[in-house]
Amino acid sequence: MENTANESVSGPEAVATAPAVAAEKNFAARQDVIVRVQDLSMRYGNFQAVRGLTFDVPRGDIFGFIGPNGAGKTTTIRILSTLLSPTSGEVHIDGLCVVNDTAAVRRIIGYMPDRFGVYEGVTVLEYLDFFAGAYSLPRGRRKAILRDVLDLTDMGHLGERMVSSLSQGMKQRLCLAKTLVHDPRVLILDEPASALDPRARIELRVLLKELSRMGKTILISSHILTELSDLCTSVAIIEKGEMVESGSMERLRDMRREFERVRITLHEPREGVEALLVQIPEVSGVTVEETHVHLEYRGSPAEFHRVLKALVDHQVPVVAIERDSRNLEKLFLRLTRGDVQ
Ligand SMILES: Nc1ncnc2c1ncn2[C@@H]1O[C@H](COP(=O)(O)OP(=O)(O)O)[C@@H](O)[C@H]1O
Ligand SMILES: [Mg+2]
Repeated sequence: MENTANESVSGPEAVATAPAVAAEKNFAARQDVIVRVQDLSMRYGNFQAVRGLTFDVPRGDIFGFIGPNGAGKTTTIRILSTLLSPTSGEVHIDGLCVVNDTAAVRRIIGYMPDRFGVYEGVTVLEYLDFFAGAYSLPRGRRKAILRDVLDLTDMGHLGERMVSSLSQGMKQRLCLAKTLVHDPRVLILDEPASALDPRARIELRVLLKELSRMGKTILISSHILTELSDLCTSVAIIEKGEMVESGSMERLRDMRREFERVRITLHEPREGVEALLVQIPEVSGVTVEETHVHLEYRGSPAEFHRVLKALVDHQVPVVAIERDSRNLEKLFLRLTRGDVQ
């Protein structure tokens, strides 16, 4: 049995004391960035997996960490989760350094690895109680805490079930439940949806939204942008260990507008159309294939009439104009060229 539960953030270092956590909370309340990644690099031997990543995760956000397979997501996430030391650069979570304040960071984060494992030969409650113990939750309160966690993850009726009898989706949910027992402020989830069927994915989204409403910051990785685009409030897109784009989801949507594509169909081919269109400052690219003109337009939609005017003034025989509003997935493909690294 592969069991990554062993390497998750539990064990003696994860021991929390309530006053220490409260003090950190007061400190944290003055900041609105909860995860700060600065110039982070990671090298495996001669291979540079992460190259100078810098990004912030705003407090309370659902932050999508997007990149194709091999981009360096898991490497970065393992550094954030204190399981891997970076070659260089810094990561702070709620003002705590992941390298120097490892134990304190582990108390405030909940990490779910990409290939999760659960102990099979125990009941759901026994499983969770084991982790509650590892986090030193007071014995008297454990039962109530585990009940809450089971209710939250919609597993309230499964407490006495053997873990081995759960479906894959349920095991994953249990793994998430385990990640929540110490009430972490920041959830770091590495491709949690990748092994789930569509129904379980929807349930996961509902649960993540609920956790977000409870005030938790969630960093969630995926190699599929659309999986997260309506869930996330901010994103970072990485490729080959480097940042491609980061910021609010709104900003990314604005970028989509910037990269609007227009397809113009002509009655017959016409010389000089390309030269005519590239003169317009808002036009960032033109390709002409016989009677089809593909245009990249970065200007405001309201000023698109300038393009039309230029075409009409030069008697270009336009018969149709279609806007190909790029969706985010297309933008992502453009940004990353769909590479699998
Ligand atoms: N322990 C390791 N030793 C050597 N190379 C590694 C190791 N872990 C990951 N890599 C390489 O680093 C790159 C980034 O991997 P990873 O962080 O797992 O990317 P992602 O999670 O985005 O798919 C990949 O090319 C991968 O092969
Ligand atoms: Mg990965």
